[in-house]
Order: sequence, then C-alpha cells, then structure tokens
Amino acid sequence: MNIVMVGTGYVGLISGLCFAEFGFKVTFVDKDNNRIKKLNQGLMPIYEPGLDELFAKHQKNTKQIKLSNDITKSLSNADAVFITVGTPSRRIDDDADLTSVYAVAEEISHNIKKYCLVVIKSTVPVGTSRKIKEIIQKKVNNSMFDVASNPEFLREGSAINDFMRPDRVIIGIESDKGEKILKSLYRPLYILETPIVITNLETAELIKYASNSFLATKISFINEVADLCEKVGANIQDVSKGMGLDKRINSKFLHAGPGFGGSCFPKDVKAFSNTAKKNNIKLSIVDSVNEFNKQRPKILAKKIEKFFSNNVNNLKFALLGLSFKPNTDDIRDSTSIIIGNELLQSGAKIIAYDPKAMKNSQYENPKFKYGSDVYDTCNNVDAIIIGTEWNEFRALDLKKLKTLVNKTIIFDLRNLYNQDELKNLGWEHISIGR
Ligand code: UDX
Repeated sequence: MNIVMVGTGYVGLISGLCFAEFGFKVTFVDKDNNRIKKLNQGLMPIYEPGLDELFAKHQKNTKQIKLSNDITKSLSNADAVFITVGTPSRRIDDDADLTSVYAVAEEISHNIKKYCLVVIKSTVPVGTSRKIKEIIQKKVNNSMFDVASNPEFLREGSAINDFMRPDRVIIGIESDKGEKILKSLYRPLYILETPIVITNLETAELIKYASNSFLATKISFINEVADLCEKVGANIQDVSKGMGLDKRINSKFLHAGPGFGGSCFPKDVKAFSNTAKKNNIKLSIVDSVNEFNKQRPKILAKKIEKFFSNNVNNLKFALLGLSFKPNTDDIRDSTSIIIGNELLQSGAKIIAYDPKAMKNSQYENPKFKYGSDVYDTCNNVDAIIIGTEWNEFRALDLKKLKTLVNKTIIFDLRNLYNQDELKNLGWEHISIGR
C-alpha cells in the first residue's frame, strides 16, 4: 500500500516512519522546500528519541520512504493520504487555526485521480472532517474517495513507542472500503491485541479532545490538591500514590508540578471549550482547568519571589530545564520558560540550561543567559530552579554544587529530590505540595 503524509511536523514524521516500519511505502510531502531539503540530508526538524535512526533506516536501507514537495505527483499512486499539518491556537479567539488543514484538503481535491482514502490525523475540532469531505466533494466524485478521522495520541519523547504500542486506535469512518484500508494499515498491531474503536467522524474527533482534556484535568486536579497539601502538612507524592492505587483512578498523570505545557494540552483544552461554546454547551470543568493552568506558573514565580521577601532584583537564578517536558527540544508553552520570564520581569537574572532545547530557547528568549552544562549554569547563583525533570537533573552532585552557588537554595518544581536528604546536605529545598 502507498501512503502519503502531508505535513512533516511531529505527527507526520513519526506516524509516517512508523507506517514505513510496518512495511508500507510512505511519501512525505511538505510545501516547505527547505524542510524537505534538510530531511533529504537526514537533518530532522525536531529532537525525538529514535527518530534519526528510524529515518536513516528507511531512507537508506529499506528505501520505504520518499520526500517530495509535489503533492500532485505524490498523490497519483496513493491508496491513503494523511493530513498531518499543524492546528495551532488562533491568537484572536484561542480556536484551532484550520487554515493549513483546509488548504491541504483543497489541494487534495484537485489531485485525486483514482480512489484514495483521506485521513485526518491533525487534531481538529468536531465537524472539521465532515467539512473536509464537503470540500473534496466539490471536485471529486463520491466513489473516488472517503474521509476518515484517525487522531493521534503520541507523547513527545516517547512518540515512536506510543505509535508502535498504542493503548487503542480510534478510527472515524463511514464506509466499508475506507475501514478496510485503515484496518490493513494498523494490522501489524493485531498481534498486540490493540483495541480498534470504529466510530463516526464526529465521535473520533471528540474522543481526541475529551482524552487530552481529561488528562489535563487530572494534572490540574492534583496541582490544586498539592497547594492544599502545603497548607495542611500533607505530602502530595503520598497522596498521589494512595489515590493512584485505586484502579479506577490510576497513578498516571497525577504528578504535581508547575502545570501542563507543550504543543497539545494547552491548545486542545482551549479549543475543546470553544467548540462546546459554539454549540451552547459550557464545559465548566475544562474552563476551570484552562484558567487554573494559565495562572499556575505565574503563581509559582510569585512563590519564588515571596521566598526572597518579594525582591528578586539582581538575584541570579539557575534555570535547569527549558523544554516543556524531558526528551524533547519543544519549548512551546513551557512552564519553565514562563517562570523564568516572570522572574526576569521582576528584575532577576536568569541563566538557563537544557540538554536539548538550548537552541530553541536562545532564539526565543535572548534575555536569558545560557550555561554550557549544569555546573557552569549554577556558578554563583542565588537559587537553582529545576523546571523540567530531565534524567540528568535527577542525580546532581549536590556537594559539588554547594561549592559553586552563592546560596544553597533549590526550587524543585518537579519533586525530584528527597526533602530530608537535601536538608541533611545543607540545602534549603522548596518543592511542590510537600
Ligand atoms: C500529550 C498527550 O499525552 C498525547 O496523547 C497527545 O497526543 C499530545 O499531547 P505531550 O504533550 O507530548 O502529549 O506530553 P504529556 O506527557 O502528555 O505531558 C503534557 C504536559 O503535562 C507536560 O507539560 C507535562 O510536564 C505535564 N504533566 C504530565 C504533569 O504536569 N503531570 C503529569 O502527571 C503528567
């Protein structure tokens, strides 16, 4: 089977390469010539564990993949085309910006010459897949195409494994022919007994938003409980553990911290609420999650300032971790960076370090200074802030660090360290919900 992925961002690249790994021929299409040129040289636009290797394998060894900026040529032989372009938040109203998705649908409609299944993998509000169907219907006979919604559930940092071993595959499809194609594409997962949920277009779209919003709700819930823990002398990690052992609750996504960031949760929670509003439904829980999470990094920055009697002017902070989570170089809606910028605005100096996200952050945050490694970053600082839970921050040489810093203060926003241990080593340790 021949597959075309339109859009070589995070979702397109990972999904396409995983389909190549399953044995299908995959053509990646992107209108950005520069991106295609770089990909041809094996230069990936993002950092994701295992991505370089998987790309090299299928470009050089199996020759299962092709790269192109010519959608017409690529579609001529395609059995299925996946739309995997971005749907960022619109600045004006926080709605998902569907400009790219609709533009690709238009292009596809001009280029279908034989039957082709059009699969929407980009995260799109409910109703979008049906609109895409209408766009294509204007140019193409119904017998020549079907439209499916097949949302992705890939976590950055573990996306390849998430694709190869998913908890479930969601397929919104309303034709037998289309269903058969998608089932064959995911057939390699049958051996893992992966549940495949077949439903209509709207339901598939909604499952994606409801899932992400539910996980975001779990995070905000535990963060609010963490605030209460601090007031009453309880320990949030034990609370999470105690709750998570109940199989109905489950321990995942109950880690308290500076709030959720990244390319998905913040934008999806907002878009979900907007979709509901347009349908005269108020998702009050989702709205609260959105508002609480927006404030959370700012409140934590205030907490840090309060520790210094509300005067951080000229104080030097080492900011460890800039990506929104470990194992990615993605800094979109990174809570660590929001906190750094809040402190900067209050007159503090920020010296930052991240194992993979330095380049992205240097470009967007030129007012931060940057260290070459953890120890260089912590030289002469008045406090260390751990913003992202990278593995290399989990076992810092605290004795060595003590000789480098001005003051032995750690704001451990990811609860990486044991409080007593740090106290015994002479550090003041401020964590979350403990
Ligand atoms: C998420 C979804 O998990 C994935 O299914 C979807 O397709 C895309 O969005 P991702 O954004 O890559 O994936 O990361 P995820 O691991 O879900 O974390 C999102 C944010 O929540 C991060 O900022 C993370 O630090 C935060 N988080 C996560 C917590 O604060 N506590 C937790 O317990 C879990």
